[in-house]
Amino acid sequence: RTVAVLAGGLSHERDVSLRSGRRLSAALKSEGFGIEEWDTDAGLLERLRTQRPDAVVVALHGGEGENGSVQTVLEMLGVPFVGTGSQGCRRAWDKPTAKALLQNAGFVTPGWVVLPHSTFRELGAQAVLDAMVERLGLPLILKPDQGGSALGTQVVREAAELPAAMVGCFAYGDTVLAERFVDGVEVAVTVIEGENGPEALPAVEIVPESGVYDYTARYTAGLTDFFTPARLDDAAAKAVAELAVAAHRVLGLRDISRTDAVVTADGTVHFLEVNPSPGLTETSTVPMAIEAAGKSLGAVFGELIGQAIT
Ligand code: DAL
Ligand code: MG
Repeated sequence: RTVAVLAGGLSHERDVSLRSGRRLSAALKSEGFGIEEWDTDAGLLERLRTQRPDAVVVALHGGEGENGSVQTVLEMLGVPFVGTGSQGCRRAWDKPTAKALLQNAGFVTPGWVVLPHSTFRELGAQAVLDAMVERLGLPLILKPDQGGSALGTQVVREAAELPAAMVGCFAYGDTVLAERFVDGVEVAVTVIEGENGPEALPAVEIVPESGVYDYTARYTAGLTDFFTPARLDDAAAKAVAELAVAAHRVLGLRDISRTDAVVTADGTVHFLEVNPSPGLTETSTVPMAIEAAGKSLGAVFGELIGQAIT
């Protein structure tokens, strides 16, 4: 059997994906799988048609690899793959959609405003910024509405920082998600969907040295401390696990996902986002959670491949 691991791609997260792909491929090879590593580019369609792998594992992050486009191609060609399908990717990849669906399902998520770039032209930049601060208060956080690895994300503590922060965020897309900044214990909760349905692994607590879990803090070893399981009381640990399983179900995700959340001092769990194609690099939290659960990355993905093929 041939399994192709799709990595690379053309998004801003290309380098991260290559690291995820390398680690995953090595883990699967050690489980005895015949793995081909495909650096995904415009030739993907042709390659899938001519080489027809028995299964594909999508280790792409960002852009086409996570917004449902590559998944649509795989579905159209009937190639079995590990990971969320096109519909689920579309829902999860769009942060405002994911927040609205989780809020509808009764979960707490920080207050937010969606700002397409055109709003600034139509209403005037200052009017938009003033209305946003009035609605959300400060500090707040700006994120590209679709994006990953914290690229373009800006924490804003004072109104004077807003214009420059907006420009930095718009560099990654034409719509900004402005969100109330919530301070607390930051956790990442991996969900693996086995034969018994989706189950949460131990939460990983994230403590970046700089205080902000940005791109550098994510992918430079030693710049962030991780605690697995997270230092939460039993009630909070249960609540974050429930949130992650609910996010996986509500958004229609498949096989694996990672929900990011903040637990405030009063014990409230705030949903931030759910990642349909979470990082698998040396510094990513999913492999840490798998290890803490007493499993191996290769064995877990090996089982998911088995489920995809049958
Ligand atoms: N977007 C990165 C890869 C993550 O969520 O891990
Ligand atoms: Mg993300």
